Amino acid sequence: MSSEPTLTPAEFQKMVDDFFSVQCRYQAAIREIQTKLENLDDEFQMKHRRNPIHHMQSRMKTIRSMMEKLERKHLQQSITSAVDNLTDIAGIRVICSYLQDVYTVADLLTSQDDVHVVKVRDYIKSPKSNGYRSLHLVVEVPVYLSEGRLAVPVEVQIRTIAMDFWATLEHSLRYKAQDQVPQSISDELQQTAADIAALDERMQGIHDEVELLSSLPREEE
Ligand code: GTP
Ligand code: MG
Repeated sequence: MSSEPTLTPAEFQKMVDDFFSVQCRYQAAIREIQTKLENLDDEFQMKHRRNPIHHMQSRMKTIRSMMEKLERKHLQQSITSAVDNLTDIAGIRVICSYLQDVYTVADLLTSQDDVHVVKVRDYIKSPKSNGYRSLHLVVEVPVYLSEGRLAVPVEVQIRTIAMDFWATLEHSLRYKAQDQVPQSISDELQQTAADIAALDERMQGIHDEVELLSSLPREEE
């Protein structure tokens, strides 16, 4: 006989209802942040004739991944506990063209007075030991529901196209190797991350030169 506690139909129904109301709230928060970022990108395009944001992706954590994270952190596994303890239930990844765009986008977003910064982790200035680079923010944004105003946290990961290329491949390699990556491969991955960081710096330099050239008055042909 299984010793696992079984939920009564009423308890099960409550858990499902709780999840849908939480999902609705976090999806609203994702839309709020995404709209803010789209508006900033449009305005930047109008002023500077280019888009700092290359593209965006968003996701909401599944119940399974919420419960796994709570278990890893030795916290109670419930929807209420997830809301109280996890700041990455809602996530947006912002992929920028150039290194400087990462900071421009972060500054423009966090300077809005209804965006409250909860946490900043700059893994570009201080990369993770495996070479991972990105700027991570947790921001709270107000969401207006029938019960009133709620501040909902959203994890925003901002990175360049090059950093995203590395993180995507590293993630799938680590998944494939089931987190048992040999040291020689870790070393090589770390080196590729450093190469990519150098490329980002060079691309930024080229961009700055082109901007400068295009701002000079053109000679008559
Ligand atoms: P998680 O339990 O993974 O959410 O970690 P955390 O709450 O300590 O936050 P952290 O800032 O370390 O990482 C949050 C997210 O950043 C992860 O869920 C990944 O999406 C991404 N990330 C962090 N480290 C790495 C890494 O080494 N490689 C890749 N590919 N992604 C990473
Ligand atoms: Mg996470």
